[in-house]
Amino acid sequence: MSAGADGGGGAVAAERARPGGSPEDGFVPSALGTREHWDAVYERELQTFQEYGDTGEIWFGEESMNRLIRWMQKHKIPLDSSVLDIGTGNGVFLVELAKFGFSNITGIDYSPSAIQLSGSILKKEGLSNIKLKVEDFLNPSPELSGFHICIDKGTFDAISLNPDNAVEKRRQYVTSLSEVLKIKGFFLITSCNWTKEELLTEFSEGFELFEELPTPKFSFGGRCGNSVAALVFQKTGTSLEKR
Ligand SMILES: C[S@@+](CC[C@H](N)C(=O)[O-])C[C@H]1O[C@@H](n2cnc3c(N)ncnc32)[C@H](O)[C@@H]1O
Repeated sequence: MSAGADGGGGAVAAERARPGGSPEDGFVPSALGTREHWDAVYERELQTFQEYGDTGEIWFGEESMNRLIRWMQKHKIPLDSSVLDIGTGNGVFLVELAKFGFSNITGIDYSPSAIQLSGSILKKEGLSNIKLKVEDFLNPSPELSGFHICIDKGTFDAISLNPDNAVEKRRQYVTSLSEVLKIKGFFLITSCNWTKEELLTEFSEGFELFEELPTPKFSFGGRCGNSVAALVFQKTGTSLEKR
């Protein structure tokens, strides 16, 4: 499951539902699209962290975090901007954001064990002012709103593998994103399953491409495959948000 994408770390690599099929066909459903899978992953990682202090997998590797931070630096994103990490996993990116100086950071994940693990890691790092919450992004609570920046590293990929109507889940994701992000706010997505063009289609309603971030190609099992796509979208004034 874990391909060495983007210079290290894992990837939610997936198979197309039909070889050569269109994005609407999506991917072959997988356990990677279920909460049970992620609960089991983070329960294991929590135990490993408690026993050995190992924080676990950084999805897409260190460079995927540096790339996002460099973008925020380049665009002089104010350090008091509200930042939401969607599907934060072990929360290691939250640590990087805080070390860079961001002071209004929230991490959410639908897996309680992921949130427990991120809480333990943040505590060990002495970071007490980061908000952490168990939230299903496909059904966000009303308090989750007004963010300047939303980050997704591998979460949309995981949601796209949901065995229970992934097409609808992807639509719901876009609606949730519109709800939680401010108009003109930025959405930074890193994906190993979707190409730039496909992501442009997925997020065409209410978002426009602001910038594509350069990413390396990766090879796995002797085959040179897709590069990871890293895109920055900006929310337009004409989106689907309800609040
Ligand atoms: C591939 S992992 C990436 C974790 C983290 N973003 C990183 O870069 O290390 C996908 C994450 O998305 C979370 N996730 C999947 N579906 C979700 C949903 N509907 N709401 C919130 N989190 C979700 C999983 O629990 C998991 O932590």
